Amino acid sequence: MRIIRTKDYAEASAVAAEIMAAQIILKPDSVIGLATGSTPVGMYAELVKKNQAGLDFSSVTTVNLDEYVGLAPEHEQSYRRFMNENLFDHVNIKPENTHLPDGMAADPEAECVRYEALIKSLGGIDMQLLGIGHNGHIGFNEPSDHFVLDTNCISLTERTIEANSRFFASRDEVPRRALSMGIRTIMNAGRILLLITSREKAEILKKAVCGPVTPAVPASILQLHKDVTLVADAEALSAL
Ligand code: F6R
Repeated sequence: MRIIRTKDYAEASAVAAEIMAAQIILKPDSVIGLATGSTPVGMYAELVKKNQAGLDFSSVTTVNLDEYVGLAPEHEQSYRRFMNENLFDHVNIKPENTHLPDGMAADPEAECVRYEALIKSLGGIDMQLLGIGHNGHIGFNEPSDHFVLDTNCISLTERTIEANSRFFASRDEVPRRALSMGIRTIMNAGRILLLITSREKAEILKKAVCGPVTPAVPASILQLHKDVTLVADAEALSAL
């Protein structure tokens, strides 16, 4: 794992955007796995600037990690809307080349199978962007006694519901289930760009990077991936 230490969030966002841009320049038809959450917002803003300066998204395909079950694409907190507002609406990516699991699918299990097959049909993911949850989740793969391999329908833990309630009017409105790429789906990506910022992630980052590989800390499996670049600010790295 390469670790790039930045002084703050702004620098981490810029460095991560450079790495993503380099991937797209080297392979214009890259399949990029994307994440939502508060951490990548600055990186997406940097990518929008790069697009205005000539970075070409016209051949890029994206697959997002996850989506809430029961939220329509236009819902304020759906990940589809997040992606449209933070990236897709501002760069020259073809809308039909942007993919997220369908949170409104009548049969969530069948949707997981479809999404997994879609990723395979695209030839897999060239570079996957990841953040980390306070409990060590990646995507919505929550701490467990086993690693869930493929795209699956997940019941969110109380900790994640609590953490994500900041985006909703009340805790009750946070969906209890989500569709998420599985651990193997993520680990099959050619490269992983792990972006972690802020002091509140310091303890879990230490466990993920230095602790045992265990499904109790899903991100710890990244220790076994051959090409992970961790971009983290000084606060996030403060416990290492
Ligand atoms: C988002 C995702 C999550 C987040 C994680 C960190 O698509 O898959 O694993 O990366 O919850 O979220 P933030 O950045 O809001 O702390």
